[in-house]
Amino acid sequence: MMLQNSRHAALAFAALLMVFEWAQCAAFGQRPSDFRTPPAPATPHLNGPKVYGVRPSHPFLYRIPCTGNRPIRFSAKNLPSSLKLDRHTGIISGKAPENPSEYLVTLRASNALGKDSRPIKIVVGDTIGLTPQMGWNDWYSYTRHITDGVVRGAAAKMVSSGMADYGYQYVDIDDCWARQPTSDDPDLKGPTRDAQGNILPNARFPDMRALTAYIHSLGLKTGIYSSPGPLTCAGFEGSYQHEDADAHQFAEWGFDLLKYDWCSYGRLAKGKTIADLEAPYIKMGGILKGLDRDVVLNMCQYGMGDVWKWGRQVGGNSWRTTGDLGAVRGDRLPGFYQVGFANAVLSDDAGPGGWNDPDYILIGTVGDRPTSLTHEEQYSYMSMWSLMAAPLLFSGEMSKLDEFTLNVLCNSEVIDIDQDSLGKQGVIVRKTEDEFILEKRLDDGSVAVGYFNLTTAPRSISADWKELGLTGTQRVRDVWRQRDLGSFSENFSTQVPNHGVILVRFIAAGADH
Ligand code: GLA
Repeated sequence: MMLQNSRHAALAFAALLMVFEWAQCAAFGQRPSDFRTPPAPATPHLNGPKVYGVRPSHPFLYRIPCTGNRPIRFSAKNLPSSLKLDRHTGIISGKAPENPSEYLVTLRASNALGKDSRPIKIVVGDTIGLTPQMGWNDWYSYTRHITDGVVRGAAAKMVSSGMADYGYQYVDIDDCWARQPTSDDPDLKGPTRDAQGNILPNARFPDMRALTAYIHSLGLKTGIYSSPGPLTCAGFEGSYQHEDADAHQFAEWGFDLLKYDWCSYGRLAKGKTIADLEAPYIKMGGILKGLDRDVVLNMCQYGMGDVWKWGRQVGGNSWRTTGDLGAVRGDRLPGFYQVGFANAVLSDDAGPGGWNDPDYILIGTVGDRPTSLTHEEQYSYMSMWSLMAAPLLFSGEMSKLDEFTLNVLCNSEVIDIDQDSLGKQGVIVRKTEDEFILEKRLDDGSVAVGYFNLTTAPRSISADWKELGLTGTQRVRDVWRQRDLGSFSENFSTQVPNHGVILVRFIAAGADH
């Protein structure tokens, strides 16, 4: 209790200091000194994954993520002829080629000040979700109050805030868009299906097709939510015995992702054998694969039966590995650490097309509550998720995005680690009471390492090449600050703030990146 109180007092004091520092900085037009991500250059800088999967002949939509002063002119070399690029918006649309194949495309962007180019491999084949999903999900900010207007607003904000320029792409509706059989609320009540058995949205979603069309017009994608049980976790209509019709309805409305949440299915499942746990996902996974558009399957069953071992086989592109992060009350450390530690041991089971999902990024203002995490903790959260190749789905309030939250969410070099084409989840190198080190091998041969200080005092953390599996001289880059720290051999030590992280990338001397 004492500890809890002193933590609250420390947090309140830190918040006061922050406000003070912000007021000072605003007066002098500077950024607070603990903002780590440097401003993006005014010249174009292309971001986003370097590999992208799509199924043959399916609709294709991709907004090229790019920072820099607008207007920016886009072009692409070796784009399949069935796709077209809008040179002004950077949105690529059309239909994927009919045959499985790979296209090595070069994206280009130029503005009045300069230009940039970046490769992307378009892989036409059976596997989608070749890199973890990035976007926003409404759950923690809206729960049962989500509306069409809020979702549209979030999509518009994803573009206007610049998040889309870093690769954030999915705008996902969680529970409570359907009708609730037991509700007295005029917005939510009424028959849950029409006479033909088609699922009906509630009154807050007057036109699903128009909503997805709007989101697609921005070059973004959108997700919807259901349960294999008769009811969702919040007691709204689920897809039990309507799986096929619902999946087709979601695709016909234009959705690009389905979060499929176990919920009331627990009462129907025969038992808890792996076969029982797999059954509803085999059913939905199979239906989604047969649709005429790509719908990413985000499985949500809280890690039962070690879902990471079989989630991919049943058609999942990601699977929640734990319960709800927002409900985990930390003790010595905030709750996200506990969830992160549990997810970190599952590194063998993630890879292109199927990712471990430790739940959403809860920073910024969540609903109407500003996060209680310190700045350092927020950088730790984002670093841990990126090193774990976790989906990067922000669930704070988009209309209250502040400069610091964007500084955490939008660092191109951090995101590159999450989205790396090799698709390796980082492995644990060291885990003690005081220190945590995660290491992620990257496609270009370089290695990303996060040094996490779990204590309440600044601390020097060091690891030698033997422990990290490195050899020779390594150029070391501070990923958050986007600057080189020099060349090191045998060992690298760094001073890490309390509850903070230093995230570096080791690049072997002579390697050309
Ligand atoms: C479960 C899930 C959450 C959210 C809610 C919706 O708790 O784990 O992510 O989808 O259901 O009711």
